[in-house]
Amino acid sequence: MTRTITGLLLGLLLAGCQSLAGPPAEDTLYQDLGERTGIANIVRDLLYVVVEDERIAETFRGVDIASLHRNLTDQICYLANGPCTYSGRSMEASHAGLGIDETDFNALAEDLILAMEQNDVPVSAQNRLLKRLVPLHDEIVDIPAPRPSSN
Ligand code: HEM
Repeated sequence: MTRTITGLLLGLLLAGCQSLAGPPAEDTLYQDLGERTGIANIVRDLLYVVVEDERIAETFRGVDIASLHRNLTDQICYLANGPCTYSGRSMEASHAGLGIDETDFNALAEDLILAMEQNDVPVSAQNRLLKRLVPLHDEIVDIPAPRPSSN
């Protein structure tokens, strides 16, 4: 699985072109992800993949996985316009101090794609979910402090 954010952005660009071709389609993302049960299964499989992914597993050490599973499921359900309320912390608060960089973010995106593949989510629905997660990027990824000027 080598798809990165670059590939993702290309896909989103193409999706954008498609949407120029006609009226916006009805939002079926929640249904296409298998409703809350389907989303819960995707998140379960995502967390299985993540804890085995040596690029990012360390970040999840000691985390309450049951709580993460519930909150991430609610969040994705909400972002898919499903009938869920997200009651976890903000993305900034829950990722502060974890030192998540661009590579980590891409690794998690790849793991999510794998989990969606395992749950037979159509590629178009995969891309629509990823598109709704991209705006959260800046709240999750730590922007390194600028280097002190030498003069
Ligand atoms: C679009 C991408 C992401 C989304 C939507 C997301 C979403 C979430 C949510 C909903 C929580 C639970 C917050 C709570 O319980 O109050 C959480 C926690 C967490 N996330 Fe993310 N996350 C993303 C990316 C990442 C990445 C890239 C990493 C690390 C590689 C990461 C590591 C963690 C960890 C370790 C926690 C638990 C923090 C704690 O319990 O103290 N997340 N995330």
